[in-house]
Amino acid sequence: MARHLITSAIPYINGIKHLGNLVGSQLPADLYARYLRGRGHEVLFLCATDEHGTPAELAAAKAGKPVAEYCAEMWEVQDKLGKGFRLSFDHFGRSSSPQNHALTQHFAGRLAEAGLIEEVSESQVYSNADGRFLPDRYIEGTCPNCGYDKARGDQCENCTKQLDPTDLIDPRSAISGSTDLEVRATKHLYLKQSQMRDELNAWIDGKKDWPILTTSIAKKWLNDGDGLQDRGITRDLDWGIPVKRGDEDWPGMEGKVFYVWFDAPIEYIACAGEWAEAASGRDWERWWRTDKGAEDVRYTQFMGKDNVPFHTLSFPATILGSGEPWKLVDYIKSFNYLNYDGGQFSTSQGRGIFMDQALEILPSDYWRWWLLSHAPESSDSEFTWENFQTSVNKDLADVLGNFVSRVTKFCRSKFGEVVPEGGTYGAQEEALIADLTTRLRAYEGHMEAIEVRKSATELRAIWVAGNEYLQSAAPWATFKEDPERATMQVRLALNLIRFYAVLSAPFIPDAAARMLSAMNTLDTSWPDDVAEALSALAAGHDFSVPDVLFAKISDEDREAWEARFAGVRR
Ligand code: MF3
Ligand code: ZN
Repeated sequence: MARHLITSAIPYINGIKHLGNLVGSQLPADLYARYLRGRGHEVLFLCATDEHGTPAELAAAKAGKPVAEYCAEMWEVQDKLGKGFRLSFDHFGRSSSPQNHALTQHFAGRLAEAGLIEEVSESQVYSNADGRFLPDRYIEGTCPNCGYDKARGDQCENCTKQLDPTDLIDPRSAISGSTDLEVRATKHLYLKQSQMRDELNAWIDGKKDWPILTTSIAKKWLNDGDGLQDRGITRDLDWGIPVKRGDEDWPGMEGKVFYVWFDAPIEYIACAGEWAEAASGRDWERWWRTDKGAEDVRYTQFMGKDNVPFHTLSFPATILGSGEPWKLVDYIKSFNYLNYDGGQFSTSQGRGIFMDQALEILPSDYWRWWLLSHAPESSDSEFTWENFQTSVNKDLADVLGNFVSRVTKFCRSKFGEVVPEGGTYGAQEEALIADLTTRLRAYEGHMEAIEVRKSATELRAIWVAGNEYLQSAAPWATFKEDPERATMQVRLALNLIRFYAVLSAPFIPDAAARMLSAMNTLDTSWPDDVAEALSALAAGHDFSVPDVLFAKISDEDREAWEARFAGVRR
């Protein structure tokens, strides 16, 4: 038994996430966490909301609410949807937590002591009317390139030209519209991560087993010119973690907060603190401090590919730079993008299917199965309604659901709702057990390597093997000539239902729970030995016939959903 720390990239607080976000981190992280727990390992699985930065401020302003109130509400919404998708976080925290405030300030203090923070003087736009410095995207004006009159200080949306706020013609505050702006001198903190290039290079070179998607992105940023530039870690915003060195004020940094990408990954650690505080007898340092027991923890992170530089470079720079014995990540699993029906999922454009909408139309297992079995691992992948319908109808309804229903109904009709007695295995059963053993070992290998698609393919093959066995054993025919043999076949098949429930639970936890409850068992032990596992339910054990596990998606439903989700959201 090992100890596994698992984190999923923490989703931005602004708005409900779409299925592309879900499959890029939270869902595969949940699959892995559930699998490892199923194998008897000790797991701490953490996620949180990423609450700081301009997107949160702007979304709150759009919703007409104070930022703190907006974030608290959106945390509730995301927490509820996470539960709806059965994401089994041990804790779903918030990057705005007191723990993260203290820890972020602590890291800044340590980095400063280590000489890794530089104070840089800059001139920046100050709005007299708003009484604050304005971040680039809070300044609007006319684009010097194309004349578009709503260009932002960082970029013109119309012609995509990258801009400096001082380039804008007739600049005004995006907050108040005021044109009473002036350029003032101000100071910002920079993290001198370029000084850590060698250390980071060596660390990544040691990660021979990492997926190529992860290391190639990391290496590109490390060694391509300005990838590892020193990075500003402070911002002029109201909402965020006030800039301090540990507990002390930082002269010249009054009114400033840390940059969201500085504090967000620190929340992985702070979240463990939040988890520990939520109940007694929990020790978070055991998971995070290598001087306090975390040296034998295996730490795995999940994220979309756009997040890789922050997790392979910036966050390790923060941790290494602190000079303290924090746990570094052992394995980074990153994902490509999931596209939606010929285009991209887009939060800003409301394009695609969002988590709340998905649960309105079908239970979470349907989505979990499709998303995980089509996870964008080696390349981007695409959601289409037709593919979704086919997958659900074939894999879930025809293969798994049908097996469960045929076996339980046949047994009820011939022997009652009780595991029948008699008969011994023949060649067919021995062959099935050998086949299942090979496949199970392959499934375990893929799950351990976090090869999500391969795991799904193998699991499906394991379901198919049971179906094929049932088809060729044909207990309904055997029953007439050799009833003893039929009881043995049915007993085996009923046991396969429990076996499937245990193996499938990481993918489809609700269906697995229903299968176990129909089989009237609490025995979720992992089938180390297949033959033994297939005798867990002994003759005389009561069971019941479950309701239909998976309903098929009709053509009418598919068409209606396709139409409903063709446009943009609201
Ligand atoms: N909120 C970011 C995103 O959705 C992810 C932050 S991950 C963390 O892209 F490491 F910063 F926590
Ligand atoms: Zn322009």
